[in-house]
This record gives sequence, C-alpha cells and structure tokens, in this order.
Amino acid sequence: MVFKIGLLGLGTVGTGTVEILSDPRDRHPLLQELQIWRVGVRNLAKSRRVCLDPGLLTTDLGQIVTDPEVDVVVEVLGGLEPARTLILQAIQGGKHVVTANKAVIARHGSEIFSAAARAGVYVFLEAAVAGGIPVIEPLKQSLGANRIKTITGILNGTTNYILSQMSEGRGDFAAVLAAAQAMGYAEADPATDIDGLDAADKIAILASLGFGGQVDREEVYCEGIRHIQTADIAYAQRLGFRIKLLATAQRQGEQIQVRVHPTLVPQAHPLASVNDVYNAVLVDADPVGEVMFLGRGAGAGPTASAVVADLLNLTALVQVGAGLDPLRSWRFANPCSVAPMADLVGRFYVRILSQDSPGVIGSLGTCFGSHGVSLESVVQTGFLGSLAEIVLVTHNVREKHFQAALTALRHLEPVHQVATMVRVLAESPT
Ligand code: HSE
Repeated sequence: MVFKIGLLGLGTVGTGTVEILSDPRDRHPLLQELQIWRVGVRNLAKSRRVCLDPGLLTTDLGQIVTDPEVDVVVEVLGGLEPARTLILQAIQGGKHVVTANKAVIARHGSEIFSAAARAGVYVFLEAAVAGGIPVIEPLKQSLGANRIKTITGILNGTTNYILSQMSEGRGDFAAVLAAAQAMGYAEADPATDIDGLDAADKIAILASLGFGGQVDREEVYCEGIRHIQTADIAYAQRLGFRIKLLATAQRQGEQIQVRVHPTLVPQAHPLASVNDVYNAVLVDADPVGEVMFLGRGAGAGPTASAVVADLLNLTALVQVGAGLDPLRSWRFANPCSVAPMADLVGRFYVRILSQDSPGVIGSLGTCFGSHGVSLESVVQTGFLGSLAEIVLVTHNVREKHFQAALTALRHLEPVHQVATMVRVLAESPT
C-alpha cells in the first residue's frame, strides 16, 4: 500500500522530513510505503538542500489539501494562517493531518480535534512539542493509567541555550541570542522564544493532554528571560541553583496551574543539568512517579524524526483499519479551569538595589513581614556603583502576598530598584 503525502512547507522541518523519507535504509520498513506526492512552497525558484522532482512542487497550497490522491497532509508551515485553514480543509476532505504547529494547536486545538473526530481522521502532532522527544504519544498511551500531577518542562531550546551559555560565562544576553539564531534554533521573531510564548504554546498543549481538557492559551501565565542578568545567574549559582525557563502544568485542587517563567532550579534537580538546546519534560504522575524525557527540541533532524514517526503511526493505523483508535485520536473534553497566579504558593528570589545606609535590611524585612512574607535568607553581596546589591530568598508564600510586598517595597525610600524577581522551584515537584 502506498500512503501519499501532501507536504505543506519545505523549510527546516519540511526539508528534514524529505531527507528521512528519501533515505529509508535501516529505518522502519513501513517508510517505504510513504510517498511524497505534492510539496507546497512559497517560492518555486528557491534553491534547496534536498533533491526533489520539480514537478512535485506547487505554490497552490489549497490544491494540495483538496487533492483526492493525498492521504495525509503534513503541515510544517508554522504560523496561524493559512496553516489553520489548510488543516481544517484537509480534515473536511477526509485527510489525516500531521502537524508541527504548536501555535495553531494551542489556540485552535478544540476546533481541529472536533472536526477530525467528525471526519473520522487523525491529527497527530508529536513534532509540535519538544521536537524530537516523544512526549505526546507517551502522554496519550504509555502513561494513560496514571493521574497526572505535574508536567514540568524545559520546552524552548533557544532560551535554554541562552541561559546555559550565560551561566558558562560565554557572553551577555544579546551575544548568545545572536549565536542561537545563527545556529537556526531561534524562531524567526526571537520574541516568540525569549518572551516565553513558544514554551507557553507547548505547555498549553501538554496540559490539555495531561489534564484532559482544552487549556485556554490566553490563560497561560507567561514571563520570558529578557530581564535575567548575568548577576542573577551568578547569585543563583552561589545559592545552589540554576536559572531555567520552566513551563509547568500542575494540578491544584479542581483547577490546574499553567505557567511559563524563569525559575531557580536546585542544582540537584534533574532539570538543572539539562543544558544548551536540549529540552526535557518531567512528568510526575500517580502511581508511576517521576518520568523524564530528554532530547533535542528543535532543528531539522529531531523535529522531522517526530513528523515521520507520526506518519509511520498513521500508515500502520490506516492499514489495520476499522475506525479511529481511541488511544490515538484526541478530543478535548471540557475546558480546563486554570488557577489564577495570585493563588500560587512558592518561594521567590529577589535582587534589590538600594542605598547603603543603616537599617536598610531591617526595613526590607519589616516590609516583607508586614505582608506575611517570611525571609529564608538575606545577603548583601556587593555594590553596583554606589548602590548596595541585596539578594534575598523568601520562604513559601502565596504569590498575591509576595506581589503586594514587592509593590510596597518599591516605595521604600532607600530602595532604588527591584532589579529582578525569579520564582524558586520546590525541591520535589508535587
Ligand atoms: N524555537 C524553538 C526552540 C524551536 O528554540 O525551542 C521550535 O519550537
């Protein structure tokens, strides 16, 4: 049986996909049943790394998703439109879909999966989260017996690379960002990576899957890494932490927390040693306990590995026939209720620049204390020009009380600036 692929996009991931499909030797034998039937591109004249019959290429993407010969549409265009419309058209035409598009799935997953269920087709998205790391299928199947408690991920390679390089003393934020872009890891608009938006799309998808309901992407708290300075990384190291951009989805009573923000991770924690462009996903579930997935989350090869795995799964499922496999198809049940950040309980790291005068540390302690914030450690570590640099870490406190204390602190006369605030990961995820 030949399974015909309509490929939408021949950028990094599309090219990686063609490379795997063109070289099936020593790979799964089902690969030989996959045939690239049409490839949609923006520019026919562009020179390309892969050798494809020019007759396969077209700029008419709509023609691919309506071509009766096409069995599966592989969408690796990125961006919201026309990707969403093309995916829906493919589904309406009875075609299966494989997509790497986290932005579309995070925002329109419910619409897409409902349409797919009605049409009796699969939408697979292993490549949309953490590139080459198999995490979607394990959450759907292998961990299906478990009640998910927490999913904690390093889901963006660019920011992990930047933070790792900064902690190795390899340059400031701008220099290491430029290096990440040169290596092809960063998104076209670096804000998508740096401001945590890419990771927020991915954790919204993992949370929807892990907790069985659509998470509204707009409700995912999202804070990036622009404000992290080399000083913070150095202080974190002295205090026994690494700074990572963590994406977290955690059960909190009847609600779930879903958030992306820089986090002080204890050096002994398994996520602390995930460096450079590596991604990792740590799932804590009942009764399995902690399970960690680690690998490359971006780049042509790793992402195409996930795309082709989805194609292989589809080929096998279609050959077996008889309706949709309930473990592999995915339909969101009710929306997940997302807990407000104000209710989060945790520890906080704060770096403050203040006048160096008697009683400053006492006034900071009094201010925090009057808002019910207990301090675990306070260190006056040095000076920045004429200003004293004070680093403190709180005990567990509810976010709203901590934020109220911080607002009051900013108005204290000796306080020049609250330079940085970073949340601290609990020793053991709960
Ligand atoms: N730009 C993303 C990253 C890769 O840096 O991880 C694609 O999701």
